Amino acid sequence: MATHKLLLLPGDGIGTEVMGEVKRVIAWLNKNGTAKFETEDGLVGGASYDADKVAITDATMARAQAADAVIFGAVGGPKWADVPYEARPEAGLLRLRKDMALFANLRPAICYPALAESSSLKKEIVEGLDIMIVRELTGGVYFGEPKTITDLGNGQKRAIDTQVYDTYEIERIVRVAFELAKKRRNKVTSMEKHNVMKSGVLWKEVVTQVHSREYKDVQFEHQLADSGAMQLVKYPKQFDVIVTDNLFGDILSDIAAMLTGSLGMLPSASLGEMDPKTKKRKALYEPVHGSAPDIAGKGMANPVAMISSFVMALRYSFDMQKEADLIDQAVAAVLAKGLRTADIKSDGAKMVSTQQMGEAIVAEMDTLAK
Ligand code: IPM
Ligand code: MN
Repeated sequence: MATHKLLLLPGDGIGTEVMGEVKRVIAWLNKNGTAKFETEDGLVGGASYDADKVAITDATMARAQAADAVIFGAVGGPKWADVPYEARPEAGLLRLRKDMALFANLRPAICYPALAESSSLKKEIVEGLDIMIVRELTGGVYFGEPKTITDLGNGQKRAIDTQVYDTYEIERIVRVAFELAKKRRNKVTSMEKHNVMKSGVLWKEVVTQVHSREYKDVQFEHQLADSGAMQLVKYPKQFDVIVTDNLFGDILSDIAAMLTGSLGMLPSASLGEMDPKTKKRKALYEPVHGSAPDIAGKGMANPVAMISSFVMALRYSFDMQKEADLIDQAVAAVLAKGLRTADIKSDGAKMVSTQQMGEAIVAEMDTLAK
C-alpha cells in the first residue's frame, strides 16, 4: 500500500479549527482507504512569526518541498497588523507558492443542491453551478518588481507595484485551463484588461495563439475582467473554465465563492509543473477563505472548504478518485440533511459547530462505505 507524506500547515485563526476536521478525515482514510498518509505539522503565518519572527522558516520550507502535498489552512489576523512587511503572515503563503513554483491555482465553484437557497443570489441563477477558475499564481502584480514605496521628499510618497507576465507564464497557465476544459464542458473564457494594460494585450495575444495552435476544438472566448465580474453574478452558468491572472483571479474567485453560498465552501489546489521523470508535481491545497479572526476559536467555522481542498489533493496528487468521490458525496449528504455551520445557515436547518460538521461528514463516509 502506498504511503503519502503530507505537511499540514494550519496557520492562524480558523485555520487550526478546520485543519482539525481534515485530520479526522485523514484518520478515517488511514483506517479504511487504499493508501496511508503520514502527516507532520508545521507553523506558517502569524503562528510562525510568534515562534520564529518570520512568516515561514527555511526548515518548514524544506519540509514543504519534500512532502508529497502541503495542506494549508489560513493565515493572518489583526494581531500581526504591525509586524514588518516582509514578515507579515501572508508572506509565508506567498513564499510557499513562489518557491514551490505553484503556478496553477484551481478554484472550483460548485453549488451544492442543498445550498442553492443560501446564496445571496437567486436560486435559479446558482442552482447546478459548476465552474472552474484557473488563476495564475506565481506571477503578475503579486511578485513583479519594482514593488516599493518611496519618499518623494515633498510630503508625498510614491507606491509602485509591477504587473509583469512573460509569454511562457501565460502559455503554461492557459494550457492547464484548456486541458481541464476538455474533461469538462469544453469551454474556456479568458479574462484580462487589454483595453488598459499591456500585460492584458500580451495575455490576449498568447491565449489566442495557444488556442488556435493546440486547442482548436475547445470553445473559447475573451471577456474583459470587469465585465466578466459582472457576468459572473448576472449569469454564472454561462462559464465552464475561466482562466485569468493572479490579481483578477484573486478577486473573481471570491465572487465565485459567494455563488456557492459561502466563502466557507470553496476549496483550491495550487499545482506546479509535472516532473516528466517521476510524473509527480509539487502541490499545495488550501481553502479560498481566510483566517476569519472574528469567529476564530468559537467553533463556528465551516470546515467544508478545507475538507474539499483535501479532496482535491486526493484527486490531483494521489489519484484516489474513489475516496474523493466518497467524501464529496458525504459532504453533499450532510448538507442535504440540513446540517449547517453559521455561514450557510437557513430557516429550518440544524446549526452545528465546526467539529460537529466534521464528525457528521465522517459518519456519513462510514455509512456510504458500507
Ligand atoms: C487567496 C488569499 C491570498 C491571496 C492572501 C492571503 C495573500 O486571498 O488565496 O485568495 O491574495 O492570494
Ligand atoms: Mn483571495
